[in-house]
Parts: sequence; C-alpha cells; structure tokens
Amino acid sequence: MSARPNFTLRPHEELADLLQVITDYAEERIRMEPPLDRTRTRADLDAALGSTITASGVGGAEAMRIFTDELAPACLSTDHPRFLSFIPCAPSDASVMFDLVVGASSVYAGSWLEGAGAVWAENQALRWIADLVGMPDEAGGVFVPGGTIGNLSALVAARSAARDGAPVAVRPWRVAATEGAHSSIASACEVMDAELVGVAADDAGRLTGEALRAALEAHGPETFFAVVATAGTTNFGIVDDLASVARVCRENGLWFHVDGAYGGAGLVAPSVRALYDGIEHCDSFIVDPHKWLFAPFDCCALLYRQPALARAAHTQRAGYLDVLTEATDWNPTDYSVGLTRRARGLPFWFSLVVNGTDAYAAAVEHTLEVARFAAAEIARRDHLELVRERDLSVVVFRRLGWTPADYQAWSDRLLADEVAFVVPTTHRGETLARFAIVNPLTTEDDIRLILDTTM
Ligand SMILES: Cc1ncc(COP(=O)(O)O)c(C=O)c1O
Repeated sequence: MSARPNFTLRPHEELADLLQVITDYAEERIRMEPPLDRTRTRADLDAALGSTITASGVGGAEAMRIFTDELAPACLSTDHPRFLSFIPCAPSDASVMFDLVVGASSVYAGSWLEGAGAVWAENQALRWIADLVGMPDEAGGVFVPGGTIGNLSALVAARSAARDGAPVAVRPWRVAATEGAHSSIASACEVMDAELVGVAADDAGRLTGEALRAALEAHGPETFFAVVATAGTTNFGIVDDLASVARVCRENGLWFHVDGAYGGAGLVAPSVRALYDGIEHCDSFIVDPHKWLFAPFDCCALLYRQPALARAAHTQRAGYLDVLTEATDWNPTDYSVGLTRRARGLPFWFSLVVNGTDAYAAAVEHTLEVARFAAAEIARRDHLELVRERDLSVVVFRRLGWTPADYQAWSDRLLADEVAFVVPTTHRGETLARFAIVNPLTTEDDIRLILDTTM
C-alpha cells in the first residue's frame, strides 16, 4: 500500500501524531478491563465542555482529550462484565480491532460493484448463520444496523410478497405475534400502517400453532401477511413453539418471520438447540451479532429463504442506480430498507475467521452456564424468587418485599458505585429484576456479588 498525502484538517499538525494518539487510545481500551463508568446530565456536560465545535478547530490531541477525559467516562461500557441490562454488547477483541480497519477503509458495501470483497466476506458470515438456521442454499440477505431495521425490512418484504400473490381487491394488512414480541414489531407495523394482532401466549409464554390458528380464524387468515415468532424474547428469553407456528403458517400460506435478534445466537449452542426446532421453515430470520455473537454495534444479520422476494420489495430504482440494479450481482442494499451501507458485517466475519466457530459455541455455552448458575443461586436465597424457568441467558427474579422504588434505588446504587448496571424491568405491572447474560467474561462471582447486594 502506498502512503497517501498528509491530509489533516489543521495543516501544522502531523498525521503521525494524531494516528499515535488514536491508536494508543484504541489499544489501551481494547487491552483494559473496562470501567463501568456513569451517566452525566446534559447540564453537567454543557458546563464542563461548552461548545466543542469552533471555527478554527482545537486539533486532534485536544479533541481526543475531550473524548478521553469527559465524554468516554460519560458512556457506560456495555462490555463491562456486570453490565447486565437490556441486551448488552460484548464484542470479541478481533471484531473490535477489525472495526478500526473497516472504519479506515472507506468501503461502500451497498453494491457488489463497489464492495465485492467486503460483500463476499459478509455473505460467508451470513451463510454460516443460514446453516445454523437450516435455510436452503438459495437463502441470503444483508447485515443491517439492528433488529428494528431487520424486522421492518423482513415485514416489508413479507407484505410485498403477500400483495403480489393476493387477488386484486385483497390487500393483507395484519401481522400476528404475542405480547412478548419485541417493541420493534409494533413499531414496524406503525411505520407500515399495518395492524398488529396479539396472540395469546401459552403458560410458558410461548406463541403456539394452536393459539395462532385461533387468532387467524377469528380475523380471517387472508387478512394477514406475516406471523412473527420470537426465538428469545427480550424480557424473558422465551423461544416460541416454532415448529407448530411454522405448520400453521404453511397451512395458511403465510410468511413466517423469526425474530432471533437476541436469542438466535443460541442456535450455535448444542445444549439449547432443540428449543429452536422448526426454525428451518422460516421465510425470514434475524439475529443481532451485536447482542450475543460478540460483534460490535451495529450489526444485525437479516436472512430470507427466497431473497428474490425481498429484492422485489426493496430495490430502489433511478437512472443513477441503473448500472447497479440492472446487473445480476448481489447488491446487499436490495434486501433492506436503506441504500448506503457500511460493511458492518465485516468485524463479525473477521472474528469468525480468526477464532473459528467452535469458539463461538463455547462462548455461548459459557454464558448459558453462568445464567444457569444465576438461576440456581436465586432459587437458593430465601428472599429471592425466580419469576419463571429460564430458556436462554435471561434470568428474571423478584426480591420479596421490595416496592418498585426499592428496585430502582438498588439499581441506582449499583450504578452510582460502579458495581453493576442492572435496571429493573416490568412484567404485567410488576417491577422485577433482570439479568441478560451475553458476555463470556461475566463470572459466577459477578453474579454472587450483585445478588449479595439484594439483602
Ligand atoms: C427480540 C428482539 N428483537 C428486536 C430487537 C431490536 O434490536 P435493535 O435494538 O438492534 O434494533 C431486540 C433488542 O433488544 C430484541 O431483543
């Protein structure tokens, strides 16, 4: 590679100096045990920093000082082993390092013409996931920013396919899912002006074929264009009864979308693989490697059984795009909402290549092991109670005698002391505590330490 001309915004600054500051920071962050850090108010940041953007610029060293001393400590480290709220992000070292390379490489990964090498590699990573799901050879898709866009893109493709196949006067507008489905499904329906029909879950919180059939019959199956099953709900990690749901979808010719944004990663773990039986029948599937597959933000793998249907729904057409759209190449941008895209699947691909897929299975199994330990430890303590049996690596529990304010005070104290980030959740009006364990560096001692603070 030949050196490029020295290009900085401030001519008297050396590219080499800034490069050193940046790479030193990145190296230290990658090597360190990250601090949990804490959140700051806007007023506090305003007071500390004022306006950072000035007419003449402050130079790279000073800009990095602002980030290092003020901004970075005001961002929680989602890869801290005791960051157990929402769904954390615990990227592998290899994926984080390669994210730097992607950032430095100015790759446009929307089209094969411009980003063939990157798209080829991303497609290998997508194929690995498709094989875990059991999708056919023709399956394919794209890495999109997150589960929200993945779900929306899949549902847009489903609606387009349903409309194409429906009699002229019929425009199917309904989607079926349980209340456990992620909020992004309701949001997608809102964006699409579609109606989300709630299906009753069984006692284990799962969508079943039987309940689905009843809901379809009540509303008229021909009014639906998709069914969304969840493989690992956000609040509890519940995997729907995918086999029976798939059967009912097939009976009714309905698009079967599986949202595995969080739980799809469990496909790699032999100990829980049976929970996903039936997933191989899905028409579309998402999993976020930035959740439980050790990739940095933002990275959602979106796969279609018949990519041509998605392409028909998503391809943007314009004279300036003809050179791309009229080619037969695989253009990732044709498979989701959005046009320009970074090669966000590359850090994930790189880490798979470096570490091998066995390491992924072992890492997911390890987090499941720690979740098993957490559940046992909760059951062992008289003042704690598991809310339901765990499917995957989310553990939800109640602290007997606590009010919602007690849960919040406990959570606030854990964060203020930089011990842990464990926000309360609610379920059917009850406030509860919840761990989402996706970080292979989270240990049994971490869990014990947090549970000890509930006394
Ligand atoms: C099951 C499920 N689906 C979708 C999403 C949305 O994903 P994202 O936050 O990447 O948009 C989440 C996020 O937690 C999720 O758990």
